[in-house]
Amino acid sequence: MEELDPTYIQAPEHRSDSNFIPNQPEEIPVIDLSRLDDPEDVQNVISEIGDACEKWGFFQVINHGVPCDTRQLVEKTVKTFFDLPMEEKVKVKRDEVNPVGYHDEEHTKNVRDWKEVFDSYFKDPMVIPSSTDLEDDGLRLVYNQWPHFPSDFRKSCEQYARHAEKLALKLIELISLSLGLPKERFHDYFKEQMSFLRINRYPPCPRPDLALGVGHHKDADVISVLAQDEVGGLQVSRRSDGVWFPIRPVPDALVINIGNCMEIWTNDKYWSAEHRVVVNTTRERYSIPFFLLPSHDVEVKPLEELVSPENPPRYKGYKWGKFYVSRNRSDFRKLDTENIQI
Ligand code: SIN
Ligand code: FE2
Repeated sequence: MEELDPTYIQAPEHRSDSNFIPNQPEEIPVIDLSRLDDPEDVQNVISEIGDACEKWGFFQVINHGVPCDTRQLVEKTVKTFFDLPMEEKVKVKRDEVNPVGYHDEEHTKNVRDWKEVFDSYFKDPMVIPSSTDLEDDGLRLVYNQWPHFPSDFRKSCEQYARHAEKLALKLIELISLSLGLPKERFHDYFKEQMSFLRINRYPPCPRPDLALGVGHHKDADVISVLAQDEVGGLQVSRRSDGVWFPIRPVPDALVINIGNCMEIWTNDKYWSAEHRVVVNTTRERYSIPFFLLPSHDVEVKPLEELVSPENPPRYKGYKWGKFYVSRNRSDFRKLDTENIQI
């Protein structure tokens, strides 16, 4: 048995059990978005999305409009970057001043994740809050750190992120319709968003029985759009009983999951699911999540239309920018909102 740095070791109850197979052959839904072109099928698609958000908080989409060549290009360029020697990669390393760039010391719930990461904001430069009072002078500009090599790295990330954002905003409209709300209900929430693209590389791991690629967490954003390669490893905890289910890699599909903001806006109707990534001894794995975040000044609290005397608000609510800045900025993805629950 190989030694593993103790910072990577998960508590026994959080380790992955590779022998465990869920006893029901249930699958996270795979929804074909080309069905939206058929007026007779649109309502079915919307209901299927709503059901998936309620039951799993996860689904996959195919024929989603993100071009294959855009995805293949970003997958290729990021591999070239991660294959560079460490002294090259750390030239664009994230630090106190720059919350984006390369890093390999991500921790989830105080345990180190078995992976390396490259983060970039969707807009370059990005305006982010720097103080919790959110006055005008409480904002600052942050520039992405792009590597010089491979030369098309920046362009491929930006191009892919634009398509991922377009898809995310389209899904927000469908989610809105699935809640019985106008499709534009959430439009105003994304005027000054701070969305970002993350690239994860999970190297082969000598002890997948002890370490995880990412420990269990919920996403703090609105929704995430994730491109995963064919290796597999992402697992979601089922809402009804917490059993871990694999998210099967489907060629050209994108994995969509509900984050804490949407869960709170819907007063828990839709579910921000715990998920994690298991690693393996032989194959590296890549994933590229796009995190859709609201504007700084957006209030994250249950929507008035979705609460009633029988279904009172379960959260006090918070200002997104204030929440974002009051935490370790580079680490907000996995913040939970337990402390803001009523
Ligand atoms: C994450 O949830 O942070 C990453 C998911 C993945 O790599 O599949
Ligand atoms: Fe996540």
